[in-house]
Amino acid sequence: MKVAVIGSGIMGSGIAEVFAINGNSVILYDKYEEALKKGLDNIKWSLEKLHEKGKLNEEPSTIMGKITPTRQLGEFYDIDLVIEAVPEDFNLKAQVFRELEKKVGTNTIIATNTSSLPITELSTALEKKDRFLGLHFFNPPVLMGLVEVIKGNYTSDQVFERGIEIVKGIKKEPIPVRKDVIGFVVNRILFRVFTSACRLVSGGKYTIREVDSTAKYTLGFPMGIFELLDYTGIDTNLFISREVKKRGFDFDCPLLEELYSRGQLGTKAKRGFYDWSNGRPRIEKTERGPSAKEVLEDAVKEAIWLVNNNVSTEEEVNKATKLGLGWPKGVLEYGKEMAILKP
Ligand code: CAA
Repeated sequence: MKVAVIGSGIMGSGIAEVFAINGNSVILYDKYEEALKKGLDNIKWSLEKLHEKGKLNEEPSTIMGKITPTRQLGEFYDIDLVIEAVPEDFNLKAQVFRELEKKVGTNTIIATNTSSLPITELSTALEKKDRFLGLHFFNPPVLMGLVEVIKGNYTSDQVFERGIEIVKGIKKEPIPVRKDVIGFVVNRILFRVFTSACRLVSGGKYTIREVDSTAKYTLGFPMGIFELLDYTGIDTNLFISREVKKRGFDFDCPLLEELYSRGQLGTKAKRGFYDWSNGRPRIEKTERGPSAKEVLEDAVKEAIWLVNNNVSTEEEVNKATKLGLGWPKGVLEYGKEMAILKP
């Protein structure tokens, strides 16, 4: 398959890498030379890591050879799939889609990796809306096993099914998102966790390290919650929170504004909630901290809402948090343990 990825940030470069590892030829576009170079460096680093661990079937250089970097939005008429991964700004994304539509063939599928913008709203930028869908990857795409496949109001059944097949073809687990709800499945749950964690800290009840200790040592999450905010980017999360709030979903964390104004953008700036200058922060087990229920109750309620509103099934929401967020248990499995679920 011939794939083009638009935007070579953390997500775009990771998505390009996944498609190349799985034998596809990929065009990686970015408007900015520096960003393109950084994206290619990330891919090289990641491929070397995977190679060291024996996780690749080909040499890193062979896989790199499948990726063609470009700063020109060329004639993409023979491309099968374009995935947009530019920053979370509606106007920017809409402009990309308008330009792309002039260059691609009539059968090209156009996908967005948006985390927060409704697929139906984004598709208003396109003339031919039935070819458009959401393919939402998780950071780092090469290690996380899940991709949400989101159907907008205009996405054809055929394109939606094709999206699911494409995800299987890159050896990821597809989660079909049947209704175009804000934040889809995983992020609706994750934003509740972020909001609860921020509230526990802003209210002065607990420290950042205490909340992250509960996340890591009580709940068994692979990262602390504030560590994950740093990892996915303070700026990215702030922009996402603004977009979803505008659309009526309450992802609220005033701490993000504070950090953003100080330029503490997280891992990429080597400083966010934590100091990353010597690599990942060490999160120790603290003596006190919030209960699992204080951290997770709102997220469990959100998952119940998703199931009750036929966005996803119980099995799918559980799979979503295990594969998309690396949690050892599904969100509703935690809910049952905490007796949040109605019997
Ligand atoms: N490519 C290749 N190797 C990588 C890598 C990458 N992109 N990133 C990390 N690694 C390597 C590390 O270098 C490390 O290698 P060594 O053993 O040689 O040191 C190895 O993987 C393991 O990494 P860590 O020791 O740092 O830690 P880990 O075992 O916790 O695994 C992780 C890392 C997979 C990222 C794990 O911490 C995790 O699952 N974290 C949660 C991530 C998550 O929740 N992602 C979703 C966020 S939400 C989102 O993305 C959507 C949105 O819209 C905002």
